[in-house]
Order: sequence, then structure tokens, then C-alpha cells
Amino acid sequence: MKTPGVLTGPTCLTCPTCHACRTCPTCLGGEPVSAPHVPSRAPAAAVLPERGPEPVRITLSVNGDEHTFDAEPRVSLLDALRERLAMTGAKKGCDQGTCGACTVWVDGRRVLACLTLAIACEGHEVTTIEGLAQGDELHAMQSAFIEQDAFQCGYCTPGQIMSAVALLKEGHGDDAEIAEWMSGNICRCAAYPHIRAAIRTVRDQSRDPSHGQT
Ligand code: FES
Ligand code: FES
Repeated sequence: MKTPGVLTGPTCLTCPTCHACRTCPTCLGGEPVSAPHVPSRAPAAAVLPERGPEPVRITLSVNGDEHTFDAEPRVSLLDALRERLAMTGAKKGCDQGTCGACTVWVDGRRVLACLTLAIACEGHEVTTIEGLAQGDELHAMQSAFIEQDAFQCGYCTPGQIMSAVALLKEGHGDDAEIAEWMSGNICRCAAYPHIRAAIRTVRDQSRDPSHGQT
């Protein structure tokens, strides 16, 4: 009998929340599976109380500060940030996950805020472009975007910068990787060569010990 929640065999593909669900036959001690199949009705180990559909109290930690507001559970993180918390740095371009203008971080991972429910971010740390600078000191990536003239209208820029900082942290620093891992951030002004130059600037600074941490 395996320990529930501990996978010892091949990656479990039983359910979409593998490694953390503790509800499917594999996590509960069944044999590992190698292909998706219809999920069983095994009882959930932890069932969250149902909330909504009427407005509910939501508490978000954004850039280190806690904010509490009432919103329907269907409200996206993007709308919560922009319309409830007046943080308009993350932009609404397509509102359907294709442009990247709304990119923010949740627990340090970049996410599309238009496709993320605000209520799902409770208990996690949200970081937006407003949280990147240290007081009056811009983040190195923000400075590089200015130096490299990496924007025209600027609408896509907050999302570009949040993605750019994250991709270097993720270790995608080669020139080809920079292009690939920024491909989810669209720029209608086609500032791509300058955006990539800005990212390369910060990458090179991070490899130069004479520069501070970026
Ligand atoms: S507004 Fe979220 S991806 Fe376009
Ligand atoms: S600078 Fe205008 S959309 Fe990118």
C-alpha cells in the first residue's frame, strides 16, 4: 500500500491536478497509470466549501499588501486588480489569453490574469508591475526597456516586463530562448527587436559580477 499523495511510479495522468490532488486512484494507492482515463469518484481528501455565485469576501495579497473586497467568484484576477484594487498596470488586451498584456506573477510564476480567477489566488502572493520597482528605483528590466526604447504606445509593456523578468529567472537566457519564451506577449507596435535587446541587456548584466543582482 502506497502512502496517499506520494507517487512512486510514472507520472500520474489520471486527473489534471497531478502531484497535489490526493483524490485519484493513483494518489490514493492504486497503480500508477500511463494514459489519461475517466476520473474515478474517489472521495476528495479536502473539499473546499462552496462559495458564490453571489459576491463573496475575497482577500488577496498583492505586492506584499493584503486587500479585501467583495466580488463574485467568477471575477478574474485582472478585473479584480484593475476595477476593485485600482491597480491598472496589468492591461486588458484580448481578455481571452492570447496577448499577454495582463501578465502578472502568482507565487513568482507568470500567469495570465485574464484567465485566472481572483478567488483562486487567495493564500498566494500576487506580484504586478506596480510591485517591481523598489521605491523610486526602477527594476533593471524597467530601466533596460527605457534605455533600449523597447516600446512605442506602451500598452503591452507591463506584461512584457513581467514576462521578461520571469523568463530570466526561469533560466531561459539564450537568444533563441528569449524569443521563444516571450512569444506569448504580443506587441502591436512590433517593438520586438528592442524588447529582446532590453532582455539581453539585463541578462548580460546578471552575468557580469560587477553589476548588482537583477
Ligand atoms: S488580456 Fe490576458 S492575455 Fe490578453
Ligand atoms: S509598445 Fe505598443 S503594443 Fe507594444
